[in-house]
Amino acid sequence: MLTVQICVGSSCFLRGAPAVINRMQELVEAHQLAGRLTLKGSFCMEQCTKGGVTMRLGDELLTGIKCEELPHLFETKILPALRG
Ligand code: FES
Repeated sequence: MLTVQICVGSSCFLRGAPAVINRMQELVEAHQLAGRLTLKGSFCMEQCTKGGVTMRLGDELLTGIKCEELPHLFETKILPALRG
């Protein structure tokens, strides 16, 4: 099970965390990953100055994430991580 934590601290919230969460949920459904990938909200990850939204993918911290980057992120990080 892969856990993706999305920061919903006030800075990330204002920079689009709700839209990022919605898009992530759509992508999880589209890739039929329910049960293999868990989405969680997180308090501030202390990366507020990096722009965009912060998320943690397993042990990896990703900063400056924007909604339109999520399909690419799935292809390059999330799907490979699930394949192990
Ligand atoms: S609010 Fe997201 S890193 Fe601070």
